[in-house]
Amino acid sequence: MRKSTGRRFLLAGNWKMHATRPETTALIDGIKEAAAKARDRDVLVAPPFTALETAARALVGTTIGLAAQNLHTEPKGAFTGEIAGEMLKDVGCGWVIVGHSERRQYCNETNELVRLKIDAALRAGLTPIVCIGETLREREADNTLPVIERQVREGLAGLSRDAVKNLVIAYEPVWAIGTGKTATPEQAEEAHGAIRRLLREFAGETGAESIRILYGGSVKADNVDALMAQPNIDGALVGGASLDTTAFSRIIAFQ
Ligand code: PGA
Repeated sequence: MRKSTGRRFLLAGNWKMHATRPETTALIDGIKEAAAKARDRDVLVAPPFTALETAARALVGTTIGLAAQNLHTEPKGAFTGEIAGEMLKDVGCGWVIVGHSERRQYCNETNELVRLKIDAALRAGLTPIVCIGETLREREADNTLPVIERQVREGLAGLSRDAVKNLVIAYEPVWAIGTGKTATPEQAEEAHGAIRRLLREFAGETGAESIRILYGGSVKADNVDALMAQPNIDGALVGGASLDTTAFSRIIAFQ
């Protein structure tokens, strides 16, 4: 827990399209010890759909949370190949990633769809981890803040204050994801501060202070400490390094 803000840090592993069921059990075994020691922070993993049930079983008796990487907007119906939030809840998820940049990029997910998926997640009793972030082109054109502002405004449009307070936001500059390029702590803090100021409009001043804003994009064992030291960075959404239990354990234990 961070004394000055009351927000608990959250370290989330996004496994993307990796991990069979045996690999899932091994990955969870490999971070149990670090997670058990991290009493003042939250830890969760987001395996692929096919490994969620295995993960749920492996997580029994731990404090590690379970997230899915995506959901459909409807609770059920003729949507071949899709998965409903209610199904994720049923399998043991407490969280779901929404609007990851890879889904925005490869599956044409828009802010409007993100907005609907947030509703679907909340309706199913899942905490949405809403991803936003600018591309390299947008950053080079000095458009970072307008882009993330638009993602927040359109993604959260019309949500109640209470709903917004229940979200986790993940700032993930697209140019830093899977590229080995991390935003500097100062670049990340600038974006996080702007996001928190904007969230005041949606959740009120105290509400905005309570919302966790994670940083994502090439978070590694050797850069996590400096990132987490920034006042508005409340945790990390970790891709590549979450598939290495030594690295992710060190990230969980950041100082
Ligand atoms: P990365 O991915 O840590 O591999 O850059 C982060 C993410 O996509 O959530």
